[in-house]
Amino acid sequence: MSKKLIAGNWKMNGDLASNQALLEQIAKGLVGLNAHAAVCVPAIYLAQVQALCANTEIAVGAQDMSQHNSGAYTGEISANMLKELNVRYAIVGHSERRQYHFESDQTVAAKAKQALANGITPIVCVGETLAERQAGQTQEVVKRQLSVVIHELAHCAGEIVLAYEPVWAIGTGLTATPEQAQEVHASLRAQLALAVKHPERVKILYGGSMNASNAAQLLAQTDIDGGLIGGASLKAPDFLAILGAASALAK
Ligand code: 13P
Repeated sequence: MSKKLIAGNWKMNGDLASNQALLEQIAKGLVGLNAHAAVCVPAIYLAQVQALCANTEIAVGAQDMSQHNSGAYTGEISANMLKELNVRYAIVGHSERRQYHFESDQTVAAKAKQALANGITPIVCVGETLAERQAGQTQEVVKRQLSVVIHELAHCAGEIVLAYEPVWAIGTGLTATPEQAQEVHASLRAQLALAVKHPERVKILYGGSMNASNAAQLLAQTDIDGGLIGGASLKAPDFLAILGAASALAK
């Protein structure tokens, strides 16, 4: 795996002025770093952020998208609309959407398929809750979540970005240890190997309280190809520190 991918998930944060200031600082700090950077921003800011990132190395992503092409789906945004704005990535199946919007594994898989059909790379999130980890069900849960996506995408499964985000580590300050994360990443990679020829080409990101101080250790793991960063992506120095750690590890 060559360059790592560090994607910020801004969640429901930002405003026109702070978005601009943040992106200007990231773009400046990114020069000379050997890592891919992306920001997944609230849909209403996609046009603004796309314009600000046009002449930078920062790729733009959405945080969700519809599984449908068009039609009577009030409040939804289609992959085609994202494509028109040159959006490169769309997060699908984030645990906050699974939890608060009741998205099923099937819905998540349908969204991933719809993204790929429109030339957008889905960042597919999987991860177990604390109760599931404590019950020893981590492998079983993430395997089920990924298997529905693999089934839906068939040989195209190799074109996704996968993100392992243990739900108990999101926004809590608790991080999976590098060993815990690596163990899950390795099993996800093994599962992908059953569906695609080059599983090593699928980037598997870790997400869940990754920050400037723990990024290097996590990113050094064999099967951790990058990070999906929430809170720390909202502060340029923190996000750039993670990008710096990724750059130092690039092969
Ligand atoms: P935090 O980095 O704030 O824990 O969020 C992780 C996440 O959910 C990224 O998608």
